[in-house]
Amino acid sequence: MIGAQWGDEGKGKITDLLSSSADVVVRYQGGVNAGHTIVVDGKELKLHLIPSGILYADTTCLIGSGTVVDPEELIKELDMLLENGIDTTGLQLASTAHVTMPYHCLLDEVMEEKRGARRIGTTGRGIGPTYSDKSERTGIRVRDLLDPTQLRDRLCDVLELKNEILQKIYAAEPIDPEVVISDYLAYGERLAPYVVDCTRTIHAAARDRKNLLFEGAQGTLLDLDHGTYPYVTSSNPVSGGACIGAGVGPTLIDRVIGVAKAYTTRVGEGPFPTELEGSVNEHLTDKGKEIGTTTGRRRRCGWFDAVIGRYAVQVNGIDCLAITKLDVLDELSEIKVCVAYALDGQRINHFPTDAAAFARCRPIYRTMPGWRSSTSDCRSLEDLPRTALSYLTYLADLIEAPIAIVSLGPDRDQTILVEDPIHGPKRGLLSH
Ligand code: IMP
Repeated sequence: MIGAQWGDEGKGKITDLLSSSADVVVRYQGGVNAGHTIVVDGKELKLHLIPSGILYADTTCLIGSGTVVDPEELIKELDMLLENGIDTTGLQLASTAHVTMPYHCLLDEVMEEKRGARRIGTTGRGIGPTYSDKSERTGIRVRDLLDPTQLRDRLCDVLELKNEILQKIYAAEPIDPEVVISDYLAYGERLAPYVVDCTRTIHAAARDRKNLLFEGAQGTLLDLDHGTYPYVTSSNPVSGGACIGAGVGPTLIDRVIGVAKAYTTRVGEGPFPTELEGSVNEHLTDKGKEIGTTTGRRRRCGWFDAVIGRYAVQVNGIDCLAITKLDVLDELSEIKVCVAYALDGQRINHFPTDAAAFARCRPIYRTMPGWRSSTSDCRSLEDLPRTALSYLTYLADLIEAPIAIVSLGPDRDQTILVEDPIHGPKRGLLSH
């Protein structure tokens, strides 16, 4: 399951729904930059790293090798779940996942400051610097937190250089290795019962023909390779990322479910062709509660963009879609959909991967009538106002993927299951 836009598509709720029929849920990339708000029995639970499948007692939840783990935040999340009476014994943490260290967070902050007007608008959670060290081969991995000698060896080497960078380039305070070693060994001790070789769990589950759900964080347009670079995150949220981050071959994946909002949002900097200003923007932000779970930032809102939708279908090989937050559009008298872009006087139907060209794209809209009635209590397609159904069918047509799920509010039951996206016959709501 992947995000088909710029993240925050409402994947938390969809994973939560799908997790009920999954034996194993695997988070395969990203770190605590992600945030899911799940509403269970009217109570809001915020998760950043732990898959929402943890709410089901029989589901094994893995934080896979391709993720980056801030152990302090993970422990806070575990404590929050335990306080809410949720059993966390089904959680497994990959020993090979990389660890976000204090210098990663500090570097994220000072580097953003230094970028000035060219800042990316990161979540400030040290994600980019952690993945940089992984590529640089100077990262600390979860397994290092369980071995005092190994941690000391690796950290002392790395920190000497990091402190030089922090002091000489960014005029920041150096970090004391002894404090870090002591804190991180304590985190290791607390997390040790969860640390395993996750790929063995995954391969055993696959051999036993169990249902595995790979859960992408962020979204397609934030993908390091396929998104709106450089305004992206430092990992691969696309479906292919699941193979790398979880350690499975592509042949294991039989279905890709894309999650998209009925409109578009984006947090942080970077081009956003359908971005709105004024009263409709306010309405979407307020009614859609478009405030980031992780940073509390207001999300930028815009109309549904079918050009990036089509691109997401192609890049991920999406079989079917979950469209979320349809109810947020309920009161609008007209709704626009971006069907193509105008680029330098030409109409284009594709997403230009050149960032400068993308920034010059202007949306070409089709305007549709709104339905001006509440959809939040609809439980089947027949319950939906005709114009709302036409809107959905139009989106499915435009982006060339069937809709399997429609979400009409944060609660689990505010959902229309057009077809079971895991076991269904791959048809769904499709009119092309
Ligand atoms: P980073 O992942 O913190 O490095 O941030 C890079 C970009 O990705 C910024 O524009 C962030 O706002 C965006 N981003 C990271 N995680 C999320 C997420 O979970 N939802 C939406 N945007 C995100």
